Parts: sequence; C-alpha cells; structure tokens
Amino acid sequence: MMALKHLNFAATLCTFKDPVTGRMLEMRYMSLDDLDQVCLLEEKIFPNPWPLNAFMSELMAPYSHSFTVRDRKVVAAYAVTWFLDEEFHLSNIAVDGAYRRHGIATWMMTEFLQMCRKTGINIAHLEVRRSNTSAVKLYQKFGFSVTGVRKNYYESEHEDALMMSCKL
Ligand SMILES: CC(C)(COP(=O)(O)OP(=O)(O)OC[C@H]1O[C@@H](n2cnc3c(N)ncnc32)[C@H](O)[C@@H]1OP(=O)(O)O)[C@@H](O)C(=O)NCCC(=O)NCCS
Repeated sequence: MMALKHLNFAATLCTFKDPVTGRMLEMRYMSLDDLDQVCLLEEKIFPNPWPLNAFMSELMAPYSHSFTVRDRKVVAAYAVTWFLDEEFHLSNIAVDGAYRRHGIATWMMTEFLQMCRKTGINIAHLEVRRSNTSAVKLYQKFGFSVTGVRKNYYESEHEDALMMSCKL
C-alpha cells in the first residue's frame, strides 16, 4: 500500500486489474505532467469543472494528495484527497466514462480508506450533489451516511450538497 506524499511521481503506488479489459491499471501521485489530461476529463465530466490552477494549488498543499489512475499513458481516473490531522476529506473523484462500472472508484476508495486507517485517521467526510445517485451509492457502499445538507451549494444549478461522513 502507498506511503503518504513521498513525491515520487514515477512510482506506481498500487495496481488493479481492470476486470473488463483485463489490463493492469496503475495508481500514482498526480504530477504536473498529468494536468492536461486531468483538466480535459474534468471539463468533460463536471458542469462546473475545477480550473487548472485549482489542481495546481492542490499539488502544492502539504495536506493534499492527488492521484491518477492510468491505463498505460491514458489517465482513466483521478482523485484529490486531504489527509488532515484527524480526518480525511475526499475533495474530488472522477472516472472517465469509458472506464465506469469497472470497479475503479471502489478500488480507489478502498485504498484511500485503508491509508486512513494506517495513519490513525478515523473519520472521512465528503460533499456530493443530491442528484448524483451513482456517487451517493458508491459512498454508501463504504458506510458513508448523510450528516447534513448545504443548501444551494452548487449555486448555478440551484442544487444542494449532501454532506456525508463515515467512521473508520
Ligand atoms: C461516481 C463514479 C466516481 C463511480 O466510479 P466507477 O468507477 O464507475 O464506480 P464503481 O464501478 O467502483 O462502482 C461502485 C459503486 O458505485 C455505484 N454506482 C456507480 N455507477 C453507478 C450508476 N451508474 N448507477 C448506480 N450506481 C452506480 C454502485 O453502488 C457501484 O457498486 P456496484 O457496482 O457494486 O453496484 C463515476 O460514476 C464518476 O466519475 N462520475 C462522475 C464524477 C462524479 O460524480 N464524481 C463524484 C463527485 S462527488
């Protein structure tokens, strides 16, 4: 399993055999070289995509750990996580449409939560759009439950965010 922020961007942290393609996917720390592909995916997937400088700030922040999942040179998924003193926050996770329902997000979440347990973190938090049923189901699979609502959090779509937490 991965060690926290050793900043060896070339190192594969862990692997997962895609059950659909049979290919081995690799999880690595996100690097500056990944940002073109990550931003393209972010724009394809989200109505209010994070801009490039948001990902760059995350790469600089000591508490923030960003990851990519690669299928050879192609970024198939990515995530931005915060490992704080006593809590974990999932800031962003996305899987390219072509790779969905292959179990990739499940693998990523399993790795993140395992890392939390190893580093003594015992609570995980995230926010998700109320309408995002696939993501809500993913989080519920890991034991996350709704702990609050941020009304109109996604202002341009007038949509609430569900705050979800999970004790580890
Ligand atoms: C949510 C997302 C990350 C799931 O990624 P994924 O790799 O396809 O997820 P998995 O294959 O590991 O599926 C895990 C679970 O999520 C749920 N799920 C995923 N896609 C689903 C769908 N289309 N409909 C219903 N449930 C779904 C299921 O509970 C699934 O478990 P199961 O296969 O045992 O039923 C992916 O759909 C995505 O990138 N969505 C767009 C970005 C996004 O919404 N990110 C979350 C922001 S909070």
